[in-house]
Amino acid sequence: MDQASQVREKIDIVALISEYITLKKMGRNFTAVCPFHQENTPSFVVSPERQIWHCFGCGKGGDAFTFLMEYENLEFIEALRILAKKVGVTLKTTGSSYSAGKKDAIYQLNNLAAEYYNYVLTRHNVGKAALTYLTEKRGLNEKLIKTFNIGYSPINGEDLTKFLIGKKKFTQQALLEAGLSFQKGSRAFDFFRGRIMFPLSDHRGNIVGFSGRNMSEEDFGPKYINTRDTLVYHKGSMFFGLNIAKDEIKKVGSTIVMEGEFDVISAYKEGVGNAVALKGTALTEDQALLLSRFAPKVALCFDSDDAGISAMKRSIPVLERRGLTITVITLSGKDPDEEIKSNPLAFKKAIKNEREIYDFLISKLVGENDLSTGIGKKKVTDEILPLISLIQNEVVKEHYLKKLSESIDTSQDALEKQIERKGTKEEKDVIDKTLKGDRRQMLEEYLLSLIIQAVTPAEMLTTAHDVLTQYNFSLPSVGKIFAKLVLAYQKNEKFDLKNVSIVLTQELLPTFDKCFLVPLPKFENEEKYKEEIIKVSKDLRIFYLKDRISEISAKLKKENKDEEVENLRNQISEITTQLSS
Ligand code: CTP
Ligand code: MN
Repeated sequence: MDQASQVREKIDIVALISEYITLKKMGRNFTAVCPFHQENTPSFVVSPERQIWHCFGCGKGGDAFTFLMEYENLEFIEALRILAKKVGVTLKTTGSSYSAGKKDAIYQLNNLAAEYYNYVLTRHNVGKAALTYLTEKRGLNEKLIKTFNIGYSPINGEDLTKFLIGKKKFTQQALLEAGLSFQKGSRAFDFFRGRIMFPLSDHRGNIVGFSGRNMSEEDFGPKYINTRDTLVYHKGSMFFGLNIAKDEIKKVGSTIVMEGEFDVISAYKEGVGNAVALKGTALTEDQALLLSRFAPKVALCFDSDDAGISAMKRSIPVLERRGLTITVITLSGKDPDEEIKSNPLAFKKAIKNEREIYDFLISKLVGENDLSTGIGKKKVTDEILPLISLIQNEVVKEHYLKKLSESIDTSQDALEKQIERKGTKEEKDVIDKTLKGDRRQMLEEYLLSLIIQAVTPAEMLTTAHDVLTQYNFSLPSVGKIFAKLVLAYQKNEKFDLKNVSIVLTQELLPTFDKCFLVPLPKFENEEKYKEEIIKVSKDLRIFYLKDRISEISAKLKKENKDEEVENLRNQISEITTQLSS
């Protein structure tokens, strides 16, 4: 048995998934609100019997490994390592199949680089000016530098590269792949030169990249540069400081999102340990998902300029989709770092006085527009209604509609009508389309579900097969599974769900799993269950025969040989007889 199977045998998928989300027992399966897409009613199902999961909302599914890979954004080998440790299986690391992998190599390199940068900043002459800047100009101390693992990259431009290749025996290629070096001609040089270095870690503490800040405005290049995208670093998929802040975030139930590294570090210094930094990008879906795992509330504390306000507005839909409560912390200074420096008490007060974002926006807009005019009211509602309409919780939504209605002296009815009018037709069309779907395909999946979830699957299979002797499935996957099950059953008259993965090929398993997990209506007894199978099979047969008739009719229209016309007509009347029986 290979190592993955050994681990798979020992892991209990229900226990594993329960560590991340709340599962509820439902018949033979467990259900939950899906962690991979936004929903209010559970469509995420876990089967203890088959040790699989599937979400009927977003279509994702798989086993314990895929759950962990999906949830923690891991590669297979990383998930394997974590699960192996959990169940006490020691992986053979000597075998090349389980060698460290490229991601690990990058983490190792980044760790060494961070250590190196930190050494240069704190111990080496080359880092003296940077250290002075940090301590004297930015108010940092030894402890903060250690906590955030801050460093300095020598300006000379090849020290780190030489150190990692010469002393640590890494290849030039590995350094390029980690984004620590760049190539010029055949040689490699340091990517970061003469900058204050902030390691960027994921929430588990792996260093995925760096950001580097100029020491003074006169230095060349942009104020900040970040590691370019690598195998482990993607812009907009992490927060600076989350690895350090996550326990505090869980404890206080709220994440403060700021813009920059220095904002977070200064807040931390003031005893505010639940702040993370977005780092100058718009908040992404990935980041909102990440936040939703740690606390239900997000407090936005951006720079108090137009860019900050606009970033705040853009964050609303993304955060609402994850059902997060959004508040705003308003500062009088330019950014949290400066506010803390000039008045730490005012900063703490601002945190206490956080306001729900819709309160904040309504009073801001009301203050900026002339509400004695229709145009003024339109300006306010054009801005705020699209945002209020996104609020997931109906009670909260109504609360703000009422508040807006009072603030701009417009009936709540008019506001609701305006929202409805905006709720574009397109959206409706999409829903209509997906709902209609293809009825025949839906029925095919339903039939397969009925069969494989039955108490006596073999008997139900035979029942359906009797009705569908001459039938072509419109869904190839369902057709193939059906045929294979019939074949397997005929061969050994046994129908063991545990063995389906032997009977079925890999690409058919997702369809099988999905049908195995889909919730079915309740039936009074076995007899009623069987009746349903017969009814669905007959419906499918009718679909099939009708399709055949249209096919043949189409041929008939084009045919002009008498003999062939006669033949086709006969076929149609034969099918019609079958249909009426
Ligand atoms: N940023 C970035 N790339 C840039 C500019 C900014 O990644 N070219 C990110 C940095 O994380 C920075 C944050 O956006 O901390 C906020 O940018 P800005 O407001 O320009 O930073 P300042 O507060 O002016 O910078 P500092 O506090 O370092 O003086
Ligand atoms: Mn700043």
